[in-house]
Amino acid sequence: MQQIQNKTLLSFMVPPSKDTLTVINPATTEVIGYVATSSESEILSYIEQSHSAQQEWAQLPAKVRAKRLQHWFQLLIENKDDLGYLMTLEQGKPLEEAKGEVVYGASFVEWFAEEAKRTYGESIPSPSGDKRFITIKQPVGVTCAITPWNFPNAMITRKAAPALAAGCSFIVKPSEHTPLSAFAIAELAYQAEIPRELLRVVVGKDPIEIGRIFTSHPLIRKLSFTGSTQVGRTLMQQSANDVKRTSMELGGNAPFIVFEDADIDAAVQGAIASKFRNAGQTCVCANRFYIHHSIYEKFATKFQQATERLTVGNGLDQGINIGPLITPSAKENILSIVEQAIAQGAEPTAPISPRPGQFLDPIILKNVTHDMDITQLEIFGPVAPLIKFDTDEELIRMANDTIYGLAAYFYSQNINRVWKISEALEYGMVGINEGVISSEVAPFGGIKQSGIGREGAKQGIDEYLELKYLCFGGLQ
Ligand code: SIN
Repeated sequence: MQQIQNKTLLSFMVPPSKDTLTVINPATTEVIGYVATSSESEILSYIEQSHSAQQEWAQLPAKVRAKRLQHWFQLLIENKDDLGYLMTLEQGKPLEEAKGEVVYGASFVEWFAEEAKRTYGESIPSPSGDKRFITIKQPVGVTCAITPWNFPNAMITRKAAPALAAGCSFIVKPSEHTPLSAFAIAELAYQAEIPRELLRVVVGKDPIEIGRIFTSHPLIRKLSFTGSTQVGRTLMQQSANDVKRTSMELGGNAPFIVFEDADIDAAVQGAIASKFRNAGQTCVCANRFYIHHSIYEKFATKFQQATERLTVGNGLDQGINIGPLITPSAKENILSIVEQAIAQGAEPTAPISPRPGQFLDPIILKNVTHDMDITQLEIFGPVAPLIKFDTDEELIRMANDTIYGLAAYFYSQNINRVWKISEALEYGMVGINEGVISSEVAPFGGIKQSGIGREGAKQGIDEYLELKYLCFGGLQ
């Protein structure tokens, strides 16, 4: 922790006690520190405070809210090195990648600071002379979020910034694995005069119980969740009692497709970026590769060579591309998926190295067929199964054969095919000759069982706004 220059970012850390959560470094399994958990009664009182704070915040002119968010953005950028270091410590991703996430996370704050001023309603041409119709947009109210460990910063700012910009209050429960980044970015928000009562971070030993409080409290009007489809379903069911609004950013099973007319070197580069970002622990990671049979061997060889240039290790060390997996059980789960695929006929392109701890070297599997279980599972690790295809029709059928619909990627130089495949893929986001698609200005989200709603872009703020229709009648 000596490396952290801005000590205010550590103000939430406390000595260990029975009421603290222990934060572990996944690269070394050493204890990094402790944070205080919130009791049920504390969380209930935060929700009450959040309600009053929201009423005052919503009364502020949008320009004032925008200025505070802009200030928060500046502080996030000024503290990029410290926030990145803290993230690598608790999450494991390589330091440069962690700093990149801080900038990505801050970009949502900047974007929604700007969007705060543009929550326009409409005037609707009236069908009768004595009436006039308009719509206005108003904040949803008290909102909450449950966020994951894979992006400890950006998944919070992508939700908190539109909520605050819209005039809502926001309570977030970050992952128990990565609370340090959450408390640190909230501390910077307080320094930007965003009231503590308006933006609250809560953690507990029992995350399911916090989810139950969030989904059952009458003052909370919306829940935004990023995580697994399984947990998302439960939260949606719990939210149904009060008919709360929900945004769900759930699991993915992204196909990465390389056609015979693709630029193979570009496809390999895109595959490396998409597959190994965050050690393969992202919802939009390429999960299964469909390669046209005529270029299968060529692609597999070049992909293998490029993968061999990646270095696995502690994210704080120089030159590391792939950090540790988040927990020992995450590694066990990935290896059991690989074992099952091998038992079904898949062949690793190199011996699987027995690397100790939570580290795992990239694994490429050849001779995978679409009927193997691995094509239906979200691997969430540095494993790339390569499947051959012959025709576009067969490819589309296999690519869409999943309950998920978050992201898909394909490489082709044929403009007719580019349009046809873009339209046929049943996904919320499609990367065309591109392996990295995330941006604060573009709508992020999925279809099918990958979720509901969009984050970022001009659509992101609407998730925190109610549309009200005003009918002016009796006009002479
Ligand atoms: C995710 O994995 O859910 C987020 C990835 C991103 O924002 O790029």
